[in-house]
Amino acid sequence: MKVIHTISELRAHMRGHTRVAFVPTMGNLHEGHLELIRTAKKHGNPVVVSIFVNRLQFTPNEDFDKYPRTLQADIDKLNAEGVYVLFAPAEKEMYPEPQSYRIYPPTDIGDILEGEFRPGFFNGVCTVVLKLFSCVQPLVAVFGKKDYQQLMLVRKMCSQLSIPVEIIAQDTVRAQNGLALSSRNNYLTIEEKVKAIQLYQTLCKMRQDILEVYNNHFDNILKIKKINAIEANAKDYLNNEGWKVDYISIRKQHDLQILKNEDEFNLSLNPLVILAAAKLGNTRLIDNLEV
Ligand code: PAF
Repeated sequence: MKVIHTISELRAHMRGHTRVAFVPTMGNLHEGHLELIRTAKKHGNPVVVSIFVNRLQFTPNEDFDKYPRTLQADIDKLNAEGVYVLFAPAEKEMYPEPQSYRIYPPTDIGDILEGEFRPGFFNGVCTVVLKLFSCVQPLVAVFGKKDYQQLMLVRKMCSQLSIPVEIIAQDTVRAQNGLALSSRNNYLTIEEKVKAIQLYQTLCKMRQDILEVYNNHFDNILKIKKINAIEANAKDYLNNEGWKVDYISIRKQHDLQILKNEDEFNLSLNPLVILAAAKLGNTRLIDNLEV
């Protein structure tokens, strides 16, 4: 694998490659990232991975400097996966001057859920993703469903701006107990790691409850009331268990909005997704589950 640090060298090296599959990351790679790379291999050739800790997507109260940087270990993992190029630019290479040209995602999907609790996050993500696409010029790029809203915003950005990159979604990779893999799991204590599975367990229980309501012969208005109760109970449960829930919310998959009325509760025409973000001790975890 060639490790490239500058945009000009990347462009020169990639000239002539028209079927590049790209996996953007912020490094500190785990099995979840490696699955993205394996999926990328199925959709294009060669595979390019980027590692860039993007300051623009950190909110003022998030510690950019403390984000784990493990370049040598990451390089070893990427070599073992047969990656062709690692693009690992320095900050000055990506942002030689303050990045004032930005992507501002539409507020209806960018300022809700993660966007509400991490203002500016999706602005930073979309801006860097567009810039990375422009550097790498891939045919396809793979994003994990773990960051469900990010995946959707990047998809919509490509579609609305006619960016010729096909976005491929990769299912969330979980530990055997169900915990979604994340670099942030490293921050959890041993006791917290055990407790952390409650988040996924809660999502699974909610899905089961939603399906039961859906398949029952309640009238539709009652169904919506029950859906709201499922959400409220889940939030109470996690808060009582010592979590600090930012949100746990049942949304429509296609636009991440809540069900407007009872007619929209139709799982075959209008599938749902439950999205959650909650803090355990000092660690904020996110997860989601499609229904
Ligand atoms: O998901 C991530 O790791 C980041 O948000 C991404 C897509 C690499 C942009 O910095």
